Amino acid sequence: MNHRRVAIIVSSDSGYRGEREDLSGPEIRRIAEKNGYEIISQTILPDERKNLEKEMIRIADENLADLILTTGGTGFSPRDCMPEATLNVSERRVPGIPEAMRAYSMQFTKRAMLSRSEAGIRKQTLIVNLPGSPKAVRECLEYIISELGHGLDILTGEATNCAVK
Ligand code: MTE
Repeated sequence: MNHRRVAIIVSSDSGYRGEREDLSGPEIRRIAEKNGYEIISQTILPDERKNLEKEMIRIADENLADLILTTGGTGFSPRDCMPEATLNVSERRVPGIPEAMRAYSMQFTKRAMLSRSEAGIRKQTLIVNLPGSPKAVRECLEYIISELGHGLDILTGEATNCAVK
């Protein structure tokens, strides 16, 4: 596998204020590293659309990471805005990734249907929203991560076709 860089963004008001220990960011880090990814940043931000957008734009436009994995802010709470921030900065949507996560997650909890996660591409960077809890991060990321490398190879021009194995 090619060398791949990941930026982690946690959207959480209480985590940002230091009132709650963030366990989901570390869970992303653990799984990504186990799969050969390098973590270039791990940031906790409040549930503010503009701040989240700014950080995603910075990472993508300065080509700091090939993949942005976010956690939190995908539910129904009034301040949850990670999907909106992701769509606002994406040039192209990638609906299959959240569709796959939701479909797979239904075996664990039917509440997976309440996840509003999105995925999209900005320049050479893929952005994927994971749900907020460490358990949901584990279930979703371990399921999708094996296929992300191929998408990133195509996105960055290191592979040009999808020979089926
Ligand atoms: N997906 C998986 N795999 N496992 C889970 O436990 N929790 C769900 C869902 N997706 C869950 C899941 C719940 S309870 C909600 S409300 C939505 O994700 C949104 O989660 P978030 O608000 O933590 O982002």
